[in-house]
This record gives sequence, structure tokens and C-alpha cells, in this order.
Amino acid sequence: MSNLQPSAPVGDVTLFTAVDRTKDPGFFTHFLDQANELARTGKPLILEALRLAPGQIVLDLGCGTGADVIDIAQHVGSDGRVVGVDVSEALIAEARRRWGDTELPVEFRIGDAQELEFDDGSFDACRTERMLMHVPDEQRALAEMVRVTRRGGRVAVFDFDWDMHIVDSLHKDTTRTVVRSFSDGLQHGWIGRQLPRFFREHGLTDVTVVPHVLFLTLEFYELLLGGHLVRIQGEGVLTPEEVERWWTDLRAKAERGEFVAALTALIVAGSKP
Ligand SMILES: C[S@@+](CC[C@H](N)C(=O)[O-])C[C@H]1O[C@@H](n2cnc3c(N)ncnc32)[C@H](O)[C@@H]1O
Repeated sequence: MSNLQPSAPVGDVTLFTAVDRTKDPGFFTHFLDQANELARTGKPLILEALRLAPGQIVLDLGCGTGADVIDIAQHVGSDGRVVGVDVSEALIAEARRRWGDTELPVEFRIGDAQELEFDDGSFDACRTERMLMHVPDEQRALAEMVRVTRRGGRVAVFDFDWDMHIVDSLHKDTTRTVVRSFSDGLQHGWIGRQLPRFFREHGLTDVTVVPHVLFLTLEFYELLLGGHLVRIQGEGVLTPEEVERWWTDLRAKAERGEFVAALTALIVAGSKP
């Protein structure tokens, strides 16, 4: 690896749309483990928004390696059931490998959020975390979440708004280019700010909106942005020198204990009337 690159393994997280078609699906598993470690503080907020009760049947869409499915199963108990669905065969295989032995009532299925196989009203609650930003037709995915939830059931989404991304850098222009190009490189970089409106447009009521700020480590930041910055250098958006200067400043800050970078997610939930 050239000294112009970050030290983290290079993978492009804007490709969560199609993990199985990337060269290294293992990168995404590693990324999810690190991301979930950081995102832990948001988990109770989503559970609260879902208003779960023992015995309920719950869907986790875009479940990745399945840790949240297990967590929810502990809340609904042995009379409940949790189904995790993900479009990636590699991630569902990893979820089955990790949790195949559990006695909890869980099930992992391959499926596309835009076209779910379930009947109308099959679930008491449906949630998705950090998925809608990657789905080409996010409106259709949200419509599917509403369709498969029963009347009176709860729908909840956790997603970032990628322009609510701060980092304390000496290089303001480069920072703005990084933030903007990453946000625009996703299918829906503004999904966070749009969710409250989308929920109302999809007929959900009793809509709750909770912002959640996550502070990042430099190690995770390199994992998050490394692949993207390699790609945009190749596209001529930033020069290798600009990127190198940017990382050098951030690494120096981290060594002094002064690294500050944060993302803001919105946790939006609503009831199906
Ligand atoms: C950033 S990961 C989040 C995974 C998991 N929710 C978590 O919190 O660890 C996004 C997930 O959405 C999945 N995904 C992307 N597009 C999808 C689609 N159309 N249908 C179902 N899952 C999808 C990806 O395969 C990936 O597992």
C-alpha cells in the first residue's frame, strides 16, 4: 500500500447496496462489527421507539450479520419470533454461522427490502438500521415495511444524514469536499433529514424523531472513508497530496488525543393506523 493511503484495509462502504458483487465481502463483515461496536449507544433508542412486548413477531430488514435480531429476540422472549432479512447471501451466511446454535426464536432469510415475500400485516413491528440509505428505491422499501406491519404495529428506521458529518480538520475545503462527495456517493445521503416527512407520506401516525450523535475513532474513520478517498482521488476530485495532508493532520490530532469526528443519525418511528 502506498504511503498516500490510510492504514486501514481499503473497501468502499458506499457499496453496501451490493456486498456480494464486491471483491471482498469479508471487508463488510469486519466493517459492520466495528460499526456496531460504535453504534451500541443507539440500540436502546430504537428498541424504545419500537415499543416491543413479549410474544411479538418482529422483522429486522437489512439485518447484516444479525446481532440486532438476537437482541430483539431477547426482548420478545420465547413466545415471540424475529426474522432477519438481508439481500446479501454472504452476510446471511455469516449470520447463520454466528447464531445457528441459538435457542432463541430467530430466522435469517435472503430477500430484497424492495420486494418482501411476507403477507400484509405479518409483523407486530418492523425495523431497519443503516439500510435505507443504500436501497435504490427507498420509498418502495418503506412502503414494504408498512405493508408487512399489522395495523397498530410500529415501524422504526435508524439512518444517518451524511451532511451532518463533522470532523475537526485544519483543511476546511478538503473536509467539505470529503463530506459532500461521500454523502453524494451514497444512494440517499440525505435520508436522515427526509425520514420524518417520508413517514408521514406513508401514512404513519404518532411519529417520533430522536437524533443520535455518534463520535468516531480515527481507526473507524479510516475504515469508513479510506476506500472512498482512494476512489475520488482516482476520479480527480481531490489530489493525492490533499488527501495525504488531510489524513496526516487527523492522525497527528489522534496522537495528541484531539481527534473529533461525529455523525448524526435520526431514529424515526411511527404507528400503522
Ligand atoms: C450498513 S449495513 C447495516 C446492517 C445492520 N442493519 C447493522 O446494523 O449491522 C446495510 C445492510 O443493508 C443490506 N442491504 C442493502 N440493500 C438491501 C436491500 N435492497 N434489501 C435488503 N438488505 C439490503 C446490506 O446487505 C447490509 O447488510
